[in-house]
Amino acid sequence: MRKSRIVGVGHYVPERVVTNLDLEKIMDTSDEWIRERSGIVERHWVDENTSTSDLGFEASKRAIENANLVPDDIDFIVMATLSSDYYFPGAGVLVQEKLGIREIGALDVRNQCTGFIYALSVADQFIRTGMYNRILVVGAEVQSKGLNLSTEGRDIAVLFGDGAGAVVLEGTDEQDRGILSTHLHSDGRYAKMLWDECMGSSTPKLISQDLIDERRFFAKMHGREVFKHAVIRFPQVIDTALKTNNLTRADVGLVIPHQANDRITEAVRQRLQLPKEKVYSNIRKYGNTTAASIPIAMDEALEEGLIHNGDIVILAAFGSGFTWGSAAIRW
Ligand code: COA
Repeated sequence: MRKSRIVGVGHYVPERVVTNLDLEKIMDTSDEWIRERSGIVERHWVDENTSTSDLGFEASKRAIENANLVPDDIDFIVMATLSSDYYFPGAGVLVQEKLGIREIGALDVRNQCTGFIYALSVADQFIRTGMYNRILVVGAEVQSKGLNLSTEGRDIAVLFGDGAGAVVLEGTDEQDRGILSTHLHSDGRYAKMLWDECMGSSTPKLISQDLIDERRFFAKMHGREVFKHAVIRFPQVIDTALKTNNLTRADVGLVIPHQANDRITEAVRQRLQLPKEKVYSNIRKYGNTTAASIPIAMDEALEEGLIHNGDIVILAAFGSGFTWGSAAIRW
């Protein structure tokens, strides 16, 4: 049976580093509060002329080079982001245009922090059915332009950062490696627990002075509810990934969770009773980069020599929707 495997990984973050101390200067927060509640020390923010597809393009270029391929070798693009350059079209076609690839399909996935897992799963299905052989899967976000940087928005503003990661998936007939399974979930009853209602069709106008005056265009989050659900769903979906493949927790080489918050990651690690070195974390440098966090983390874990051929790598995510999911990979 045809399967898919990751043959190239790349990431890119904008140059500008914003530390917790920088945030202290613009809102009522503290380095101590942010570190203690999230593990974040700094994040990267774009300049005003840089958009999500710019970051996605840079990460994609690196992933394609890392696979020893050229852009024209790509058959299809799946792009995950909640912070598209425009209301429409999606950012996938913009990444395609920047890479100089003509006419191949580009699909946008809107599943927020679980976006990369959804995108990877879609790409995996296309390869398994034989429809495409090489798919570029991108997660990219510009969060900084949408943050409420006053004290009113501090619960969200301190957590998020900008960045992009990408992988090239390729078809393989090898049975003992590649993407073993993916599991995708959502529960729309919780849609308003972490959401941004503006630029949507539920308001009387997409954009209006009322919406601006009422400050309804900023994202809103019930942090405690998100936390409560995340620490249940992450372990569940990781265990499902293992069980489906007749694996146990002892077989895990590395878990790469979506980098939402180090306290969530730590709670998940403890529930799964995994040693610290088996659960990857780099949130201190980037904050939560939403759909980009898993491919960025994967690229860094590879650079740090933490993933070896044959290792079982479990990707897992939870986020707005609520959505959650996992992917089991034999590297
Ligand atoms: N700096 C300083 N104080 C802050 C703050 C900030 N950035 N943000 C909130 N606070 C304050 C609150 O106003 C509140 O003050 P009060 O007690 O005077 O009312 C206090 O800190 C505690 O707020 P609370 O929201 O109860 O804190 P918490 O312990 O739940 O931590 C989160 C808040 C957001 C860190 C936590 O709920 C969390 O991690 N949630 C998950 C968020 C997440 O990962 N989202 C993305 C998922 S993909």
